[in-house]
Amino acid sequence: MTHITLSSPARLRGSVEVPGDKSISHRSIIFNAVAEGGARISHFLTGADCLSTIACVRALGVEVERQGDAVRVTGVGLRGLREPADVLDCGNSGTTLRLLAGLLAGQPMFTVLTGDESLRSRPQRRIVEPLRQLGAQLDGRTNGDRAPLAIRGTSIKGGSFDLKIASAQVKSALLLAALGGEDSLTLTGRIDSRDHTERMLAAMGIDLQLKPDSITLHPPTHPVFPYPLSLRVPGDPSSAAFWWVAAAIHPDAEITTTGVCLNPTRTGALDVLRAMGANIAVGNERNESGEPVGDVTVRSSSLRGTEISGALIPRLIDEIPVLAIAAACAHGDTLIRDAQELRAKETDRIATVAAGLEALGVHSEPTADGMGLTGSGGARLRGATLHSHGDHRLAMAWAVASLVASGDTIIHNPESASVSYPGFWETLAGLAG
Ligand code: S3P
Repeated sequence: MTHITLSSPARLRGSVEVPGDKSISHRSIIFNAVAEGGARISHFLTGADCLSTIACVRALGVEVERQGDAVRVTGVGLRGLREPADVLDCGNSGTTLRLLAGLLAGQPMFTVLTGDESLRSRPQRRIVEPLRQLGAQLDGRTNGDRAPLAIRGTSIKGGSFDLKIASAQVKSALLLAALGGEDSLTLTGRIDSRDHTERMLAAMGIDLQLKPDSITLHPPTHPVFPYPLSLRVPGDPSSAAFWWVAAAIHPDAEITTTGVCLNPTRTGALDVLRAMGANIAVGNERNESGEPVGDVTVRSSSLRGTEISGALIPRLIDEIPVLAIAAACAHGDTLIRDAQELRAKETDRIATVAAGLEALGVHSEPTADGMGLTGSGGARLRGATLHSHGDHRLAMAWAVASLVASGDTIIHNPESASVSYPGFWETLAGLAG
């Protein structure tokens, strides 16, 4: 296992074009795979997770050609996927596994989806049960809750389903299952997760009725749908958030992240940092590929603690590890609640974040659905030896902590950052001069 040794730089300066959004990159491949024709996707995220999606889609008989950070997908239509000759390996990517499980539940073929040790330990009942209620035939280890998942594709029944968890992966799995069926599907309940699936399917000509408390998908009745959708993937706000926090906590910093997706279902971290008193300027706001986009500049700030809970949680769920670093440097207390989903991520991020904070000299009180902590009030954190545990967002959160830590910070298994952010370490070195 490799490690990296970091220390606090005197200043942080620069402009960063963050990599393409992970959620949109996955969807651009999966949805275009079943479109009627070819599409070109630029600024595609070439992180390991999205490469897993490409490999799976190719195994389903779809041509995907990589041209640098662009990708050309030749869609085969909703009836054109081919039964794969082997198990589909989703690697570390929950999005790949859950979205493909939904799509394949409604396709006339047998498939098995698996992944790495982390993915095989994550809960899948959240998709398996609703899909079964729609008539899907699928099963997995521990009574359907763990991958590998085996799917015998069948015609999916429509109807309605009340979502109990605000999860875009679950919502998208159900919509993709219905896409290949004949009946419409209405989702109610916790539909307030990221809405890239809704935006993209609508742009591909799929009949979606979006209401404040429901989403109804009518499967296409004509084979020209879904249309292929060429797009430029906006920058990932979940990646930009590392630089936002880095700039806010460092005493001599100014960082601009350009071309970041500012979809309101994704900007909870900006709202929280503003509430903490961060010095943030958003400019050059525009629309790109059906998503709001802008440039975000963050400068050195004096942060105060805050509460992160309720409706904010789905809008910043992936940013909580790095927001915990912001809280660790702030004046006063921060309380994180309603975030039990953190326990089902690449690691149990309540436990792993609390352990890392402790090593950095910040005591936290973990709870079932979050944690409470008192920040250092602007004082330096303590340099420490930290582990990514193979979790990309932990590797990068610890790197941000090292920027304001005394002495050296050693991070084991830093290469896991490339799951969502290839080039992260080089960009960090550039900003630190
Ligand atoms: C994602 C949804 C979120 C998020 C993940 C990507 C997506 O997961 O944490 O990184 O692309 O749909 P949940 O759906 O489990 O909340």
